[in-house]
Amino acid sequence: MPGAPLIPLFDIRLSEDEVGAVADTLRSGWLTQGPRTEAFEREFAEELGTGHVVALSSGTAALHLAYLAAGVGPGDEVIVPAITFVATANAARYCGATPVLADVIGAHDLGVDPADVERLVTERTRAVCAVHYAGYPAAMDELSALCAEHGLALIEDAAHSPLATTPGGERLGTLGLAGAFSFFSNKVLSCGEGGALATGDAEVAALARSLRSHAMTSGSWDRHRGRSSTYDVTAVGFNYRMDEPRAALLSARLPGLERDVEARRRIVRRYREALAGVPGIAVPYRDGDVELSSCYVMPVMVDDPELRDPLRRFLLEERGVQTSVLYPAIHEFSAFAGSHPGRLPRSELVARAQLTIPLFPALADEDQDRVVAALGEGLDELGGRAAAG
Ligand SMILES: Cc1ncc(COP(=O)(O)O)c(C=O)c1O
Repeated sequence: MPGAPLIPLFDIRLSEDEVGAVADTLRSGWLTQGPRTEAFEREFAEELGTGHVVALSSGTAALHLAYLAAGVGPGDEVIVPAITFVATANAARYCGATPVLADVIGAHDLGVDPADVERLVTERTRAVCAVHYAGYPAAMDELSALCAEHGLALIEDAAHSPLATTPGGERLGTLGLAGAFSFFSNKVLSCGEGGALATGDAEVAALARSLRSHAMTSGSWDRHRGRSSTYDVTAVGFNYRMDEPRAALLSARLPGLERDVEARRRIVRRYREALAGVPGIAVPYRDGDVELSSCYVMPVMVDDPELRDPLRRFLLEERGVQTSVLYPAIHEFSAFAGSHPGRLPRSELVARAQLTIPLFPALADEDQDRVVAALGEGLDELGGRAAAG
């Protein structure tokens, strides 16, 4: 109904303890990367069951360092899905490499298609990046096998997928050479801006730790503790450090992550059940996949892509329901235009037919019911209008 309160796509609620953890840090007198960052790294590594976590300023920084650790450099190619956030492709460009876009499996599974990846391998290919879209596992068995066969590094863009697993129960983000997590404000585990590189490889972790802070041989915290009074610079690095207030917030939020992911899964199951009865839309993935996923977003496909944008307008303007598109296809952005003409049909279809609807742990059942009803009403009205026109 016009005038009904807005149902946001995403909402974040912090507990008093979480706010208190940040306030304590602000009072501690040490704000840049230090003991709280180290503690969060240990806790997140334990949660993931992997050897090393390097906390960073963003998920994009994690991708950049992961590609560098894979040896990606000028003239190389990195194969990435065409449906992903632009960071997955941009980070290859930061290394002087070319992102090569592979098609997704289809409207029912938005992961990268291993058969298309295989077709795109050339002598210049150095790495493949698997994006676990919405927290659903990419086809890791096939991708791992083809990377092993061609001698390529497999990087996981795990920005959406903390706590998600493969069907075999392995944690996403811990399977390739390195996994890149994002703690951007709307993510499953969030602190505003932040990221982490997870890896089982001590050398990759050491490189990431070095490059995140200008490849200095000691950091400010070491010098503050008197462990070192000077430093050398051994390479051209970056300022990709996380700071203490964000690390403290992440540590405070980590114990609630499982509860949050379970809440997301419950909402997704409810959506799937209700949307099965709405003609004109399809919901990607299968019911059984929900248990594997961190359920970062709730994607929906409109059977008639022509109705997608009018439906989004109807939902917002007539029913107060916010939606988004995750994602426009990378090669349709002007910065990537012309590089990948017309051979990504499934990604192009997904980019035109897809929308995401509200999903966050505190989404109330009544609001969810409002979203489902609004989708049905919107499709009825637009379908009827199209038939009459
Ligand atoms: C799939 C994907 N990759 C990479 C990123 C980049 O993460 P960040 O925003 O933390 O740099 C994001 C999040 O925005 C994302 O959704």
